[in-house]
Amino acid sequence: MAQSNHDFIERKVGWLIVFTLLTVSVGGLVEIVPLFHQKSTTTPVEGLKPYDPVRLVGRDIYIREGCYNCHSQMIRPFHAETERYGHYSVAGEYVYDHPFQWGSKRTGPDLHRVGGRYSDQWHRIHLINPRDVVPESNMPAFPWLDRPAKIDDIEAKMTALRKVGVPYSDEEIQGARKALEGKTELEAVIAYLQGLGTALSTGKAAPAPAPAAAAEPAPAAEPAAPAQGAADASGKAGS
Ligand code: HEC
Repeated sequence: MAQSNHDFIERKVGWLIVFTLLTVSVGGLVEIVPLFHQKSTTTPVEGLKPYDPVRLVGRDIYIREGCYNCHSQMIRPFHAETERYGHYSVAGEYVYDHPFQWGSKRTGPDLHRVGGRYSDQWHRIHLINPRDVVPESNMPAFPWLDRPAKIDDIEAKMTALRKVGVPYSDEEIQGARKALEGKTELEAVIAYLQGLGTALSTGKAAPAPAPAAAAEPAPAAEPAAPAQGAADASGKAGS
């Protein structure tokens, strides 16, 4: 009986397709649907705040310029990654990200915990011309970012984000334009970068001692770190 059923499915391509789709979708649903309801994926980590208007604008510029094509924002729970970047990423850090910027390629280093690693001035020089601080860098220069940020659509952006669950208050939305007054795109991107991945260390769920210790020597090793980044990057691309 079992034999003939199998025969039937294998001989009728139409049925084979139907049963294949059925099996795959059940598997998919069982894996995906629980994630929408699982606390660890829907509850923000303690200390996580929605992006303030300046960071939000910076984030949109990050997307516009395609930074995600070379930079991931997802530290995997492996020693090699946590030693280098800090605490691995957790789902609760991304709940206000629409869309998230996990990325899939590391031509440059992961940026999920780059917040606070360098000074604003370092970022300013680096974005205008990466070679000025990292001579062997192959990151493109973004000199045009030194111009006023576009602010007239910020209320609409924040209102749209509120619709998908980001808890902006009316006051925050009304005050957004004011917060952005006189800001350049460069300043917005830097504010965005400086906030990346900091919630986990300021919140209660502080990183385990090892990643914290790894994060500390970073400023001292500053000139060397990006060089290593460039070297690693070529090796990582294939992995
Ligand atoms: C073509 C690939 C590429 C693109 C696009 C790119 N980067 Fe980079 N980025 C790199 C590489 C390679 C490095 C490592 C060398 C260096 O530090 O310049 C790097 C380094 C960095 C660093 C330092 C990270 C660290 O931990 O040392 C930051 C911050 C950064 N990039 C931000 C950005 C931002 C913001 C954008 C978009 C405006 C961007 N990158 C676009 C390739 C890229």
